[in-house]
Amino acid sequence: MAGHHLRLGVNIDHVATIRNARGGRHPDPLRAAHLAVEAGADGITAHLREDRRHISDHDIRRLKDELTRPLNFEMAATHEMLAIALAHLPNACCLVPEKREERTTEGGLDVVGGMHHLRPFVHKLRDSGIRVSLFIEADKAAVEASARLGADIVELHTGTYCERALENDGAGLARETARLSEAARLAHAAGIEVHAGHGLTFNTVGAIARMPEVVELNIGHFLIGEAIFSGLGPAIRHMRQLMDEARAGATTRVAV
Ligand code: PXP
Repeated sequence: MAGHHLRLGVNIDHVATIRNARGGRHPDPLRAAHLAVEAGADGITAHLREDRRHISDHDIRRLKDELTRPLNFEMAATHEMLAIALAHLPNACCLVPEKREERTTEGGLDVVGGMHHLRPFVHKLRDSGIRVSLFIEADKAAVEASARLGADIVELHTGTYCERALENDGAGLARETARLSEAARLAHAAGIEVHAGHGLTFNTVGAIARMPEVVELNIGHFLIGEAIFSGLGPAIRHMRQLMDEARAGATTRVAV
């Protein structure tokens, strides 16, 4: 497990955010996606939000038609998004909670309380051959509910962990790292593929990349921001290098 290649999914939403600030075509998220692949991204992630604040329907169509790597389509569990996913058949769909007023995806999906609502979405996507990922908080109940729903993947929300790191809260950081690590272990033991993401930076990626059960990280905002200073290719290559270095030092855990 530990020696396996850790995949990097680059989220290009915020290339579209910058484009939309002026309403034209530049910068083009598809061009960023091609550049990300050249720089070592294993997949591209895009979130089509209900309010279309960044990625557009047209972007999703072009990404699906032209990408040479898997597309991870992030979506809310709504009938509108389900129809779009079934029309484009991305490699994977990551179901995320969405609140119109939020600035970004603030917490994990309520998989426990929302099980009844989520179940038909998971089934319809899986029946169409799409791998289903659930973006969840790193807790036991959420992992168990994801297993009961038949999810192929859980993506563990690293947002709180990254906040504790920004606050230099050592105890909080240790607590969050342990919480993520335990959830990764539980999900893997339940036969679910483990991804992680949200808020990751050069400083915070290492501890997550070292978790042997985690096979994919999805990273967006920091990389697009860093691209202003260093260029997108160098930012992604540096992230890849940090992931690989952390991975090389990962300790193998005996599977339970
Ligand atoms: N994973 C999921 C499910 C997300 O919703 C997001 C943000 O869109 C990310 C990963 C990437 O987070 P960030 O842009 O903070 O790296």
